[in-house]
Amino acid sequence: MLSEKEYSVRLAEARSYLVERVTEPPELGVVLGSGLGAFADFVEEKVVIAYKDIPHFPISTVEGHAGQLVFGKVQGRSVVVMQGRFHYYEGYIMQEVTFPIRIMQVLGVTGLIVTNAAGGINSAFRAGDLVLIKDHLNLMGDNPLRGANLTNLGPRFPDLSEGYNLEWRQKALAIAEELGINPQEGVYVAVSGPNYETPAEIRYLRTIGADMVGMSTVPEVIVANHGGMRVLGISCVTNMAAGILGQKLSHVEVMETAERVEKQFVQFVKTLVGVL
Ligand code: HPA
Repeated sequence: MLSEKEYSVRLAEARSYLVERVTEPPELGVVLGSGLGAFADFVEEKVVIAYKDIPHFPISTVEGHAGQLVFGKVQGRSVVVMQGRFHYYEGYIMQEVTFPIRIMQVLGVTGLIVTNAAGGINSAFRAGDLVLIKDHLNLMGDNPLRGANLTNLGPRFPDLSEGYNLEWRQKALAIAEELGINPQEGVYVAVSGPNYETPAEIRYLRTIGADMVGMSTVPEVIVANHGGMRVLGISCVTNMAAGILGQKLSHVEVMETAERVEKQFVQFVKTLVGVL
């Protein structure tokens, strides 16, 4: 774990690097999950900065993730887009996983849209469904806020009773209807991965109230809430979870489904940026 001092120094150095290069401070952050990378194509007046060039930024290792911050405008809003995220299973500590969210916070971001690929647990879901996250379960066995609290960034014991902003969810439902998208709503459970779950684990996760399962998002959402941001979370059900359809799970299937719904997903997020 990084000391309070070390973390503050890293944050300040990364921030000043970015402030020098970005013309307008972003108001909204967007985290792109697997297969949603095309969203970045719609950013206008782009300033693209590779993670490897930002002081203290971790570097993403997963295929299909570009590894860059894209600053610019979408629907007239000033945004910062994370093309490629950091997963706990890659071996990063939670403070690294959530470092980009803190960067967004210190750049002035007050709202965050997070997206991910997830396995469907709720049997009413189908591969290809988009799901508005209404709440989450943190089963990662760790927490990004563990350790000394940086009081200038947020409170020691943050409230998470509306971790996914209700008003934004309602707006998202209205927008979805206009676009002819019929999103589900559900509770996302985060596990550390990297293996997909066993059928017994999926039965357990269903019993404790999860509708979909994934290996990301929750650390980012915890930090965003700690930092006072409003959050909207959307999952793409890329596969039904282990044991539900009695078939094997594969990363190839996950990527294929993500690709199949990418256009619709991108359109949804793009429209949302204009109204949230
Ligand atoms: N389990 C966990 N994470 C996932 C899955 C899954 O079935 N699909 C996509 N991400």
